[in-house]
Amino acid sequence: MIARFLARLMDSQTTWAQPFGDFNHRWLVALFRPIRPAKDFLNGTWLGHPLHAAITDVPVGLFTGVILLDLLDQRGAADAILVLGILSMAAAAVAGLADYTDTDGAARLRATVHGTIMVSTLVVYLVSLVIRAGNPLDRTAAVIVSLIGYGLITAGAYVGGDVVYVLGNMVSRHAFRGAGTKWIRLELETPSEDLPEGVPTKAKLGINNLVLVRVGETVHALHEQCAHAGGPLSQGTVVDGCIECPWHGSRYRLANGHLARGPSVYDQPRYELRPAEGGGWEARRAPR
Ligand code: FES
Repeated sequence: MIARFLARLMDSQTTWAQPFGDFNHRWLVALFRPIRPAKDFLNGTWLGHPLHAAITDVPVGLFTGVILLDLLDQRGAADAILVLGILSMAAAAVAGLADYTDTDGAARLRATVHGTIMVSTLVVYLVSLVIRAGNPLDRTAAVIVSLIGYGLITAGAYVGGDVVYVLGNMVSRHAFRGAGTKWIRLELETPSEDLPEGVPTKAKLGINNLVLVRVGETVHALHEQCAHAGGPLSQGTVVDGCIECPWHGSRYRLANGHLARGPSVYDQPRYELRPAEGGGWEARRAPR
């Protein structure tokens, strides 16, 4: 099956992609760490959706337009669309690099292959643009180079799709979790009345784990698995009324689970609590 062959092909790139990816990851983390709000913007925290995925269709559409306009010999329009395609591809790349800093393992490996193909594509389209500018009368070479670029961007998009659809990168960890209207008894390691103030505490609710944080008389309950990449929020810290994930630092408001800081672009499921008969608590997922 072709998908298995391509997966093997991608995984066989480990020899160069792993050290290259780790190297890029290091300098990108150092680059983005001091400009966290800008990184949040590039992740798509403000949009509630990964920004990279939203932008990538733009250059693909524009480069498709370049092929059509070249075929119709609409030279000026083809060149203008090519410039827009290059600019939008550069924008998509910057957003992708922000997401890349939070990858690891197989996702980082494939994201490295994806990014390398896409940067090569960008160079190929730039070469096509230079040839168009340098030799406006004979466009054969420029058009051939553009077609090579289109083949490359298709391959890069395939690998990028794998990073999301096969490896689940930037997919909400709660995408398939049901609404759960039933009250279920909460299992706590410590008695509920001894819950420490402001300290994340793990509790079991049926097949789910929750994180509880007591603030004064109020006990807040969120799902324990971070929506971004599954980090354990019970090992996080409480900051400014939010719980901060120990893996990449996303913050969710304790009161409602709303996202306060990326790289997550999703809210965290919140749970309602009520006293259970015979002591302790029971909980159920709160409506959004
Ligand atoms: S797993 Fe990435 S911020 Fe929580």
